[in-house]
Amino acid sequence: MCGIVGAIAERNITAILLEGLKRLEYRGYDSAGVAVLDEAGRLQRRRRSGKVAELEQALKDEPLAGRLGIAHTRWATHGAPCERNAHPHFSGDGLAVVHNGIIENHEELRTRLKGLGYAFVSDTDTEVIVHLLHHKLKETGDLTTALKAAVPELHGAYGLAVISADQPDRLVATRSGSPLVIGLGIGENFLASDQLALRQVTDRFVYLEEGDIAEIRRDRISLWDNAGQPVQRETVQYHEGAEAADKGEYRHFMLKEIYEQPKVVQRTLEGRIGQEQVLVQAFGPQAADLFAKVKNVQIVACGTSYHAGMVARYWLEALAGIPCQIEVASEFRYRKVVVQPDSLFVTISQSGETADTLAALRNAKARSREEGGYLASLAICNVGTSSLVRESDLCLLTQAGPEIGVASTKAFTTQLVALLLLTLALGKVRGGLEEGVEAELVEELRRLPTRLGEALAMDKTVEKVAELFAEKHHTLFLGRGAQYPVAMEGALKLKEISYIHAEAYPAGELKHGPLALVDADMPVVTVAPNNELVEKLKSNLQEVRARGGELIVFADEEAGIENGEGTHLVNMPHIHDVLAPILYTLPLQLLSYYVAVLKGTDVDQPRNLAKSVTVE
Ligand code: G6P
Repeated sequence: MCGIVGAIAERNITAILLEGLKRLEYRGYDSAGVAVLDEAGRLQRRRRSGKVAELEQALKDEPLAGRLGIAHTRWATHGAPCERNAHPHFSGDGLAVVHNGIIENHEELRTRLKGLGYAFVSDTDTEVIVHLLHHKLKETGDLTTALKAAVPELHGAYGLAVISADQPDRLVATRSGSPLVIGLGIGENFLASDQLALRQVTDRFVYLEEGDIAEIRRDRISLWDNAGQPVQRETVQYHEGAEAADKGEYRHFMLKEIYEQPKVVQRTLEGRIGQEQVLVQAFGPQAADLFAKVKNVQIVACGTSYHAGMVARYWLEALAGIPCQIEVASEFRYRKVVVQPDSLFVTISQSGETADTLAALRNAKARSREEGGYLASLAICNVGTSSLVRESDLCLLTQAGPEIGVASTKAFTTQLVALLLLTLALGKVRGGLEEGVEAELVEELRRLPTRLGEALAMDKTVEKVAELFAEKHHTLFLGRGAQYPVAMEGALKLKEISYIHAEAYPAGELKHGPLALVDADMPVVTVAPNNELVEKLKSNLQEVRARGGELIVFADEEAGIENGEGTHLVNMPHIHDVLAPILYTLPLQLLSYYVAVLKGTDVDQPRNLAKSVTVE
């Protein structure tokens, strides 16, 4: 989950590296560093603990210039986030490495390299890589050959970029389990963990595949696959503007991304729905045939994406009549799973690079090759070029655009839209939908962007409600039915960015434990669309009020819940019950945003977290 940038050019590349790091800061932000080969042929480095801004200041105080360089923003795994552990790491004064991932056999390598006379100056696993490469370089005399020789000895996950003062004509790189992309310029080339980092300099990209080794020169790139064979990879051209990484008029990326939801939901629907129907072919040319065979759905995801999957389970079973299981990827991947016959394996991921989700997909694919294994895999993902998409049989891309705020917002609501489309597509192909449901929900989906706009118009009301939380340390979120995962997502948002402890419960479970915690210091947040469960929910709210608990209720105008002593009611626009989880997510996102702003936390980059978790 660290971020890597590299560049080789005929111009000074320091500013390009720095801008790339700023755009990658979502991947980790506890330290940052840059190494550049200067005009005198010496490797020079600046590193700072803290955010990229600290490094930027260091570069202002002591500028660096050169035409070849690598840079890194770190999310600490091995070793505290201090300057000594910040990347790039050096071996001697002529070889530098940046690394994203974890080297699992670092202790064994460390012992071996110490035996060869290498002195270690950091606590990182990465330092073994640079010394190992140094050793291989001494043996082979060629940086690319040295990297090829070192790779089989590295166990774990890595994206690596390496430069050497002795070979200033190249930057070498490899990936296994961590993403890397080459940006193609004219007479200059670049490397990064995410194309977003390079959109300022190019719109043409080559994605490295698992095990690829790359030699990047100013005027050409050479690639070898994991079997050591020379290989060509497709060049992908992007047309969308590079401005997505800009906050625009908003104070934070998170707020900007919350406000983008009507637009990106609209985009996610485009080309996927017809007059009164869902277009099944949007899932790929084989989708109709495959979907007809599906008798069961297994969903696997992490974090916010997991919550989207939980909502989908309600939809798949209630609307399409398909049994559905869902599990967090970190558990699923290590569990001996009994595969239900004719199961579709669905992963949900914003980034498409989450290590646990990818590992779960790989396990499932291995099972598909067995008798009675999964029928096929489908990825619901926001990044078309990601590993998850490339390795799945089918995909449906959410069109959320780059999401920079670490707390996921627009990715979640577009995932929900994609999952509702999946529900309708599966239900239709298998004949499980009730008469008229498809046309009705397609019409409701068409109106959804307008409804989301109406929900956002309540921004100021929610901001006022947020004041109730400024001094609180614990919060409870309640929901029933498909609103339970919405409550879970609301609680996750609040704890991620405001550091207030928040837990979500299905409202019916309140009396089985959490009610013991309720008092005037513990606000209880709940979402109450006007559905068949609202009367039961009202009873649960009474249970809270009877214990002196303060209620914050986001409710349908017609739900019959009233403002009053200890009850803060926010009226929501009326919405079809099936789509309510999407709409009711928005005020909860705004609530956590405004609480975090009031508390003065770092909204877009909350402490200890990272956006893309490419390590276990
Ligand atoms: C991290 C992010 C979350 C995200 C989760 C899964 O924890 O901070 O916002 O929901 O990873 O990421 P994915 O990219 O797979 O959706």
